[in-house]
Amino acid sequence: MRILFLASEVAPFSKTGGLGDVAKALPAALARDGHEVRVVTPLYAGVRGDLAPTEVTLRLRFPFGVETARVAAARAGPRHEVWFIDHPGYYRRPTLYGTAWDEHRRFGFFSVAALQAAQRMGFAPDVIHLNDWQCGLAAVALQGRFAATALGSAPSVFTIHNLAYQGNFPKSVMDDLGLPWGSFHADGLEFYDTINFMKAGITSADAITTVSPRYAQEIQTQEYGCMLEGVLQARADRLTGILNGIDEEEWDPARDPLLPARYDASDFAGKAVCKAALRRRFGLPDPDRLSARPLFTLVSRLTTQKGIDLTLAAVPWLVSTSEAEVVLLGNGDEHYEGGLRALAARFPGRVAVHIGFDNALSHLVEAGGDFFLMPSRYEPCGLNQMYSLRYGTVPIVRATGGLDDTVTDASLPGGDGLKFEHLQPDALAWAMGRALDVWRRPDVLDGLRRRGMAKDFSWPASAARYEQLYASLLG
Ligand code: ADP
Ligand code: GLC
Repeated sequence: MRILFLASEVAPFSKTGGLGDVAKALPAALARDGHEVRVVTPLYAGVRGDLAPTEVTLRLRFPFGVETARVAAARAGPRHEVWFIDHPGYYRRPTLYGTAWDEHRRFGFFSVAALQAAQRMGFAPDVIHLNDWQCGLAAVALQGRFAATALGSAPSVFTIHNLAYQGNFPKSVMDDLGLPWGSFHADGLEFYDTINFMKAGITSADAITTVSPRYAQEIQTQEYGCMLEGVLQARADRLTGILNGIDEEEWDPARDPLLPARYDASDFAGKAVCKAALRRRFGLPDPDRLSARPLFTLVSRLTTQKGIDLTLAAVPWLVSTSEAEVVLLGNGDEHYEGGLRALAARFPGRVAVHIGFDNALSHLVEAGGDFFLMPSRYEPCGLNQMYSLRYGTVPIVRATGGLDDTVTDASLPGGDGLKFEHLQPDALAWAMGRALDVWRRPDVLDGLRRRGMAKDFSWPASAARYEQLYASLLG
C-alpha cells in the first residue's frame, strides 16, 4: 500500500510528546512491512537532520490571500520519507504549538498543503492517515477541495492521540479559511456555535482510531468525552482502539547508548550503575552508601492530564514516612514547575528535580529508577509506562486508558506493576505504600521486573492492526 501520513510532530525532528514518537515509529514499522510511506509535517525552527530541498513549491489560495511554501525531504529508511512543509512565517516560531491569533491558519494551511504536497511530489496514496486536531481539516478538504482528485477517493483514517486538545476557534474562522458553511452543523465541524478541528476529523474521516482499546471506550462517556462523547457514540461503529508500540531500537536497556551501563533481565548489575549515575546527576547524597534506598521517578509533561497534583500531594507523605528518594523530570505548566521546585526545596537530599525537556536524561531516569510514577487523570495510551516496564522499573499507574491496558497489577497472575483506581492523593499514597512493601521483598520485586521486561510492546503487532484497518477500508 501507499500510505500518506500527516502529523504535526515527528521525532527525531520535532517532538513535544508521544505523538512525535508514534509518527516516527509507526511509519517505520509499516515501511518495514513493505508499504510505501510518506510522512508530512511542518518545518519548525530547530529541526535538524539530513534535509534536502525539493523542486516543489506549493501555492494555496485562501480568502485572506495566497500562501506559498517549499517542500523539503528527508529519507528515514527504505520506502519511508519525511516531507516538510516549509512556511517560515507559520512554523519558525519558538514553540511548535501556540496561542497566537493565526493558529487556525497554521494548521488549516498545513492540512491542505500536505495533501497538495503529495500531488506535487507525484505520490498517489491508497490510504491517508491523519493525526489529532492539527490534521482535522485535511479530512474536510478530501471531501471538498480535493474531492474530484485521486486523493479524494482514498479512504482516510483519523487517529485521536488526545481528545482534550481539540483546536477550537470562533466561527469567523469558517470565512477566514473559506470552509463550506454547509459543513457547519452538529454532525460536521460545528461545536456549540464555534468550530472544532478535532470534530471535523471525527465526522469526516472514514475510520477513527485512538491509541488504546480502553480509551476508545472511555471517550464515549461523559467523564472522558470532552463534550465530544455524543459524536463518538454516533460513530462508534467506525471507532477502534489500537495500542501504540514503543520504538525498541531507541528504548532497549541492553543496547541504549544513552546509558552509562547496559543490562537485561539476566543481569541487573548495569541497572545499579544507572541508578548510581542518576542519583549523582541529581545531587542525591553519598551515592554509593545510600543507593539501597528505593528510588521513585517521573518523566512527564507537567499538565493536569498527568495527575501532577496527586504527585505533589503524595510525595511529602512518601518521603516523611519512609527512606524513599524521588527524582522528577518534566516541564510544562508554570504552576506545576513551581510545585516541583518547592517540593525539592522542602526535602533537600530526598527529592530532586530537573525542569526541562531532556531526551538523554529521560533515558537515564527510566533506567535508574526502581518505581515510575504515572498517576494520570486520563491517558490515551502513554509511552513512559511501557518504557518503564522494558527498563525493569516498576510502574505505579492510575487504572485509566492505555495505562490500564498495558500494566498488570502485582496482585494478579503475570503482574508487573502497581495500579490504583481513584483520582485521589491517598490512592496514590496507598500504591506507593504497596511499592515500599514490594521493595522489602526482593524476590517479589525481581518477579515484577522480569515479567515487565518480557512483555512485548513492539510496533510490528500494532502496525499489523493498522494494516488490517487500511485493508478493510480498501475493500
Ligand atoms: P504524552 O504524549 O501525553 O506527553 P506519552 O507517555 O505518550 O505522553 O509520551 C511522552 C513522551 O515524551 C515520552 O517519549 C517521554 O519520554 C517524553 N517526555 C515527556 N516529558 C519529557 C521531558 N521533560 N524530557 C524528556 N522527555 C520527555
Ligand atoms: C498523546 C497522549 C499519550 C499517547 C500519545 C501518543 O500525547 O497523551 O497518552 O501515548 O499521544 O499516542
